[in-house]
Amino acid sequence: MQVLIFDDKKAVAENAATLLQKLILAKSNANIGLATGSTPIDLYKQLVSLYKNQQISFAQVNTFNLDEYYDIDENNSNSYRYFMNSQLFDHIDIDKNNTYLPTCNAKQDPRKQGEHFEQQIAALGGLDLQLLGIGGNGHIGFNEPSSSFASRTRIKSLTEQTVSDNSRMFSADEQQPKMAMTMGIATIMDAKYVLLIATGKNKAQAVNAMVNGPLSASCPASILQMHKNVIVMIDSDAASLLANKDYFTWVSQQNHTINEIYGQFPDL
Ligand code: PGA
Repeated sequence: MQVLIFDDKKAVAENAATLLQKLILAKSNANIGLATGSTPIDLYKQLVSLYKNQQISFAQVNTFNLDEYYDIDENNSNSYRYFMNSQLFDHIDIDKNNTYLPTCNAKQDPRKQGEHFEQQIAALGGLDLQLLGIGGNGHIGFNEPSSSFASRTRIKSLTEQTVSDNSRMFSADEQQPKMAMTMGIATIMDAKYVLLIATGKNKAQAVNAMVNGPLSASCPASILQMHKNVIVMIDSDAASLLANKDYFTWVSQQNHTINEIYGQFPDL
């Protein structure tokens, strides 16, 4: 796991955008897994600005989102489809037919829809990189604590904490979904690269549990210790409880040199 610590969330967004830019330069038709939530918003702004400055093109890129609320209309402003369109897809040259989310409405069988999403990823050759945030409880996607490390795309009930964390997005008269479709932990682990971004003190405990804690379903992100190519980009607040901070800083300097000479994505 490469852990890169930056001064603030702006630097996290800039460096994450540069990494995705390098990925697309290395593979113009990359399959990129995307995330929603507050953390990636600045990253998506950076990507839009790189596109507007003609430094990146998404014309051949395919995207697969981590999750989507169960039985939500895509025009609902709280749907993740709406979020992705308004934060990113509407402002870049991506073909929206190449943007996939694990949707499921009440008339569909969530198990079949989960399998269908897995097949869509496989049909295009698998994920080259999966972008992740991390929940205050260590979840990745909507894989809440106790999720199986072997899980695939499926329907999940959200924890009270996640419902409460996300309630800020919903107005008082709106019904907040309590279930979501999410890529499974095994789906995420199949990506060739994982980029996890986290900012703010409220993520510090989960970040340390992910990096240094025991491998445990109580912190789903801890499974990333078993992934070959994980890059974690965090700000100093999210790193505030991280043991071995100096070590990670030293290693990242050496890795930077190696990547400059030999390239960033040997496993693409
Ligand atoms: P956030 O969510 O970016 O809104 O903090 C991250 C997550 O829950 O994965």
